[in-house]
Amino acid sequence: MKAVHEIPVRDAWKTDRAAYDVTKIREDFPILKRKVHGKPLVYLDNAATTQKPMLVVDTLHAYYTAENSNVHRGIHFLSEQATTAYEGARAKAKGFLDASDTREIVFVRGTTEAINLVAQSYGRAFIKQGDEIIISAMEHHSNIVPWQILCEQVGAMLRVIPINHDGELLMNEFERLLNEKTKFVSVAHVSNALGTVNPVKEIVQMSHRLGVPVLLDGAQAAPHMKVDVQELDCDFYAFSGHKVYGPTGIGILYGKARLLEAMPPYQGGGDMISLVTFEKTHYNELPYKFEAGTPHIAGVIGLGAAIDYVNAIGMAGISAHERELLAYATGELSPIAGLRIIGTAREKAGVLSFVLEGVHPHDIGTVVDREGVAIRAGHHCAMPVMQRFGVPATARVSFGLYNTKEEVDGLVKAIHKVIQVFG
Ligand code: ALA
Repeated sequence: MKAVHEIPVRDAWKTDRAAYDVTKIREDFPILKRKVHGKPLVYLDNAATTQKPMLVVDTLHAYYTAENSNVHRGIHFLSEQATTAYEGARAKAKGFLDASDTREIVFVRGTTEAINLVAQSYGRAFIKQGDEIIISAMEHHSNIVPWQILCEQVGAMLRVIPINHDGELLMNEFERLLNEKTKFVSVAHVSNALGTVNPVKEIVQMSHRLGVPVLLDGAQAAPHMKVDVQELDCDFYAFSGHKVYGPTGIGILYGKARLLEAMPPYQGGGDMISLVTFEKTHYNELPYKFEAGTPHIAGVIGLGAAIDYVNAIGMAGISAHERELLAYATGELSPIAGLRIIGTAREKAGVLSFVLEGVHPHDIGTVVDREGVAIRAGHHCAMPVMQRFGVPATARVSFGLYNTKEEVDGLVKAIHKVIQVFG
């Protein structure tokens, strides 16, 4: 039985990644060899969740077969090993985001929980009646609803940065919305429905001029580009493990230590305390103050392995590969009669949303699925985006590090099948 630290990242990845070898990469993902409806699987729903490399699967297996134990509690051998692996993953996450301190890395269930944590902890402590919170018109529901709940609780107002017809933020409108009442800004780094990469550094700089903290929803950015939270100077950054080739149910909230220190706990329970009496409880230090209860230990360790995997391939290579795929797919889909791409921003990553005249996106999804092609059809948990573009839904293709141009060709063929069926 191997212990977690004995699982090797494939040596091939440690050396020559100059030539991005997608065939070799695909070998690490057994699920990609599957057939669905008798056809080879073409998995293009990576914005919903990514597939897992064997390194992650082996790490989870090794943890449960050789190390399973609770963390931070026992002084026995297994608990110490589990704790070392758990805290080791925190150090990996710190490196992944270029944070300056592991105390700034909080393990949460995912991006959704990260944003709810900030809204309820920071928001309830520091946002008051009459204050304003700015989000954008391209947010996922998880970056809208937590702020609406907070606004109802404290009497604050939600302000929304509009977007243009390409799906880009209107930055002059943002400037107009920012004022002395603004107490928080929370925007997507990359839009899950449109693929737009937002000018987040500029947003942070503009907000900081007024002393306003900024949260970046990095769920769709962290899998596709290098994120450096110190360079961005954002106050909070959130992403989900399962979108960066790790397990579901685990994610990261990065927060500047100064802010996390000032915030009250989000949940009470074990591990987040240093002393409990019936009169008063003293809270644990960062980041444990925000990690009440037994955490998702396997998820954390699995996420650490996913970070190792992504690092070994190299984010620069992944970004370049996916940019090429996006450009190729845009070029192949655009000329199809009746097809309209929703989201044509100059800066895009990973996502291609479209509609086909006279065919409901769900029907597109169903027909291409029969051809083995997995895409998402719907509102993508971003109903206001659909309202902005006047469509009920879109079909969405989203890329991962293992996709190929041949798969895009398969998608195009499947779309022609849709046209044939409904045309
Ligand atoms: N938020 C994920 C998506 O965009 C689930 O598909």
